[in-house]
Amino acid sequence: MALTISDIGKAVLDTHYAVRGPIVARAQELEKAGKEIIYCNIGNPQALKQKPLTYIRQVLALAEYPELIEHADSLLPQDAVETAKTILKESKHGLGAYSDSKGMLFVRKAIAEFIEKRDSTAALKVESDPDHIYLTDGASKGVQTALRMLIAGDQDGIMIPIPQYPLYSATITLYGGVQVGYYLDESSGWNLSYKMLEEAYLEAHARGVRIKAIVVINPGNPTGSVLTRENIEMVIKFAKTHGLSILADEVYQENIYRPEDSFVSFARVMTEIREHEVSLFSFHSTSKGFLGECGHRGGYMEVRNVPQDVLAQITKLQSVSLCSNLPGQVVTYLMVKPPAEGSPSYSKYNEEKNSILSELAKRAKILADGLNAIPGISCQPITGAMYAFPSIKLPEGRTDEEYCMALLEQEGVCLVPGTGFRQVAGTAHFRTTILPPTEQILSVVEKIRRFHLAWK
Ligand SMILES: Cc1ncc(COP(=O)(O)O)c(C=O)c1O
Repeated sequence: MALTISDIGKAVLDTHYAVRGPIVARAQELEKAGKEIIYCNIGNPQALKQKPLTYIRQVLALAEYPELIEHADSLLPQDAVETAKTILKESKHGLGAYSDSKGMLFVRKAIAEFIEKRDSTAALKVESDPDHIYLTDGASKGVQTALRMLIAGDQDGIMIPIPQYPLYSATITLYGGVQVGYYLDESSGWNLSYKMLEEAYLEAHARGVRIKAIVVINPGNPTGSVLTRENIEMVIKFAKTHGLSILADEVYQENIYRPEDSFVSFARVMTEIREHEVSLFSFHSTSKGFLGECGHRGGYMEVRNVPQDVLAQITKLQSVSLCSNLPGQVVTYLMVKPPAEGSPSYSKYNEEKNSILSELAKRAKILADGLNAIPGISCQPITGAMYAFPSIKLPEGRTDEEYCMALLEQEGVCLVPGTGFRQVAGTAHFRTTILPPTEQILSVVEKIRRFHLAWK
């Protein structure tokens, strides 16, 4: 007899992933039936017309099809050709062979140099060890590996922000752990406070949960907020007090839109305060920033303050899937090693990068201002990442899931209900990306306005 749903484990059945839930399934049906849909549900930039960076695709094309190299000299910039040759030489067998479980060593070395350069200052030398870096299929696989390591029993808890990105809630459920939510304070631009961390910890601890780690997403998804250095130090101290590991999701580190904000990594602050006891897993990805190479599934996890025998277990887990995909490893290499100043591709690369980032900053402002002008919708400034998470006033008895479904049916705008990210009881939200092209963002705001004012 064929498999039935009752054969499927409870953990799988209980796992929810809102970003691709029933609303998106309905959007696809409507699209098939001829309705025009604007997909604002997922941070997938190239699906919303963002162009890939030329240099990345040139090198990747040559590395995938080395026969092109001998014809490329007159067609492609010399640094793209040289980089492709380096990749082929260093990878030894090209992109069609498995690599080491951790990923190709030359890529891990380039990542370690990138981290050192990103985080060091004249007064501070941040060191990074290529042996503590794992190449992963997107950041998602790295997060899953870390959670797999940490969740050892059904009372093991992981602290996650509320609202959070559903990768965390879904994976914790799948691995049989306990989600311990800590609230971000919407009224202060989604800030973190020690008090809220402590309350969440104590409440779960009193229920017998053994809390193992805290997840921090900076810049935030879905909140779009950027943490200050003080906030980061506070989280490290909190983790130390309670013996927790930290999972620092830093995939949006390039997506910061106000000149007064800057990205500060957990690795840097840990080095600054000479913290050597708190274990840190930090994640980066080729999917976000200005690359938007989601489909290439590139990313890495860097691990600090973890002993050798634990590292060996992480390597073993990686080796169960042999290695992450090689084109993704190459895109990760290109992300951390962009064209050097003065090289033929340098100016075009930077023009493309700056144009993408300035467009995103512009859209973030248009969207937040537009939403705030609608009575009954209130949106915090979008200072980072790729999303807005406004709160919405709903008619009595209605949910944000019904709201998003009705908006989709009437106006063809596909959002994710706040419920999928968790939220303060009694509040309602939706999440939208800032990714549609500017003209479309204006039309999204108009469609939401028309719908919101009329919906009962
Ligand atoms: C906060 C956060 N972490 C991780 C990911 C996973 O991205 P990927 O697996 O494509 O690197 C996403 C994707 O949207 C995200 O928003």
